[in-house]
Amino acid sequence: MEKKALYYADYLHLDKVLDAQYPVSFTDGHEKAHDEMLFIVIHQAYELWFKQIIFELDYVLDVFGQPAINDNAEDMNLVRHRLGRIIKILQLLNDQVNVLDTMTPLDFLAFRNLLTPSSGFQSKQFRMIEAKLGLEIDNRHQKDYYKKTGEGGFDKPDYDQISTAEADKNLLTRVNEWLERMPFFKDEFGAKFWDEYRTIYEAGLTPREASKIHDFDYVFFEKIPADATPEILANLRSSFSPKAMGAALFIMLYRDYPIFQNSYQVLDALIEIDHLMSNWRHKHLIMVRRMIGMRVGTGNTSGAGYLEGALNKHFIYRDLSGLSTYLIERRKIPALPKSLIEKLGFSLGLHHAG
Ligand code: HEM
Repeated sequence: MEKKALYYADYLHLDKVLDAQYPVSFTDGHEKAHDEMLFIVIHQAYELWFKQIIFELDYVLDVFGQPAINDNAEDMNLVRHRLGRIIKILQLLNDQVNVLDTMTPLDFLAFRNLLTPSSGFQSKQFRMIEAKLGLEIDNRHQKDYYKKTGEGGFDKPDYDQISTAEADKNLLTRVNEWLERMPFFKDEFGAKFWDEYRTIYEAGLTPREASKIHDFDYVFFEKIPADATPEILANLRSSFSPKAMGAALFIMLYRDYPIFQNSYQVLDALIEIDHLMSNWRHKHLIMVRRMIGMRVGTGNTSGAGYLEGALNKHFIYRDLSGLSTYLIERRKIPALPKSLIEKLGFSLGLHHAG
């Protein structure tokens, strides 16, 4: 029998995708609200892109889950490339808010009450992205409010799936392990490097910044400053271990060496992803303020107030971008001994034995 030629609409299952828009206001007994179609299409477009982000993230998590990673081989290149793809998608998702902005508050009000108690708050995929990137439940704004199955919360299957993702190792914990395995400070070079670096760093601080040296000692060596209150310590405490923070700082300092390029770009991509997520939260918040003012959300949070709390608190890689606090001028960066470059070139996979 002759095989039927593949048809565009069949390959893409457009019958399903294009038959999935059912505005409630278009049904009997309601006044048709023109903009509800846009509202549905834009949410669906977001969810499709969320799906792609999760697909890329799962690949990245798999690579970081390996017991040893060759930082200059194919896997790590693909990690870098795919994190770059997530960045492009997030940029697109930020731009997409502009399309929704063509809906006026009155256009929205025409169908808004029909949506209660559902809302983007219930987007399982958005929660999976947050959890897989490393947003932990204890670091959430209003965590008790967030994890609920009552009205406006998650249904039971979604709740369970989100909880599993939250309990699994996330990208932050895996990147932390990867950084901890870096062989920079294994021999006498390590102690010498930190002594020298600490002296240069301290000398470069202005009088107003002088106390930063205590932060330095805490962040990289867990030395508790004499006058530290629990609040100060909580502020300084990083989601990465001191060892991992040290390795990340090292990579940032020596990023111009080809052996550090991939590692540096991975760290930079994580910072960029965090920034773009935060940009989106901000754009969404501004759009929500314009759309509903200070009314409660259809998902029954305080609305803009809740979103503002989430915006301020839900950074995941803030400690990586915060490493800039501990940088020194480029011309003062200690030279790397040749023996270390060779050793690193070897252990980071530039040369292959035999
Ligand atoms: C008219 C447009 C929109 C309005 C007025 C709006 C409003 C809100 C409000 C008030 C919340 C807080 C939860 C609640 O009480 O309902 C929320 C959460 C959320 N919305 Fe929207 N939204 C809109 C469009 C979108 C779009 C297009 C997306 C794309 C997927 C989206 C995704 C989300 C997400 C992910 C959350 C949870 C945020 C978090 O917990 O940090 N929203 N939205």
